[in-house]
Amino acid sequence: MLIKQAPDIRSSEITDERLYRNRRQFIQAASGAAMGAVAGATVLGQYGGALQAQEPIPNLQKSPFSTDEALNSYEDITTYNNFYEFGMDKGDPARYADEMTIAPWSVRVEGEMNKPAADVDIDDILRPHTLEERIYRLRCVEAWSMVVPWVGFPLGDLIKRFEPTSKANFVKFTTLYRPEEMRGQRSRTMEWPYVEGLRMDEALNPLAIIAVGVYGKTLLNQQGPPLRLVVPWKYGFKSIKSIAKIEFVEEQPRNSWNVSIPNEYGFYSNVNPEVDHPRWSQARHRPIGAFFRVPTLMFNGYADQVASLYDGMDLVRNY
Ligand code: MTE
Repeated sequence: MLIKQAPDIRSSEITDERLYRNRRQFIQAASGAAMGAVAGATVLGQYGGALQAQEPIPNLQKSPFSTDEALNSYEDITTYNNFYEFGMDKGDPARYADEMTIAPWSVRVEGEMNKPAADVDIDDILRPHTLEERIYRLRCVEAWSMVVPWVGFPLGDLIKRFEPTSKANFVKFTTLYRPEEMRGQRSRTMEWPYVEGLRMDEALNPLAIIAVGVYGKTLLNQQGPPLRLVVPWKYGFKSIKSIAKIEFVEEQPRNSWNVSIPNEYGFYSNVNPEVDHPRWSQARHRPIGAFFRVPTLMFNGYADQVASLYDGMDLVRNY
């Protein structure tokens, strides 16, 4: 596995204009999304319709759920990515993700819910929500991690708007399927589109968020705009990018990595230093930008908030 050794640069030192190539589609979508948030939340209000991608999102609320660990640099966060729709190499998403069109964007919402199934425009998804900054350590199953200042809102707030019924035991998320723009989808490296899922009580936990930005700016294409999941107590593969469909379902969905390599990747994917991956230990991991490995914490440090979700469950079997 490739581990990039990057210096630990603070946010204030970073302005990497090299990354901002071919931004036209992204800018369109970002201003649409930003305007969506304006009406209800006024978070982006001072920009009105003029907000451009990569402009700072003002008045972000700080979250009490944030870690106070040193942030990874904007460059690390946007150049060392997993987004297999654009290739297997960690640099492929930054290289090729601009080939994806993100405007217009709507999310198909359907399944066991009281609201009628619909294609919901990204503006309507975002409008009622107040954006906040959530600093989380994203712990990848490959035994590295990064500390990322996400911008987003609680997933549970979005779910409740659609009034899932008592049959909705799980939430299933599906990424955009567009092989003509996502070169990785033209080969059978895995089953496309990428699918993930959460149990309903996990999805409603206040730690789980929908992210729309990083470092106070809208997401670059390699980060999974216009909206992606971030579930900080689980390995990074649960944090599905560029969500095109949300379904409320009765049965536990098969998630992509579980379909690809079932004995290595399960449904739950909780960060757990005591349950090793069949090919490597999960007891320690390497923070990107640091030289030494550090101990991995149970539930990535969120045991107080989430351990009770798994009371009585065998976490060795439910990996
Ligand atoms: N979502 C989609 N659609 N496709 C992917 O390949 N990779 C996952 C997750 N979400 C992936 C995805 C994995 S393995 C990780 S570790 C995180 O995205 C990485 O997020 P980052 O690139 O923002 O660090």
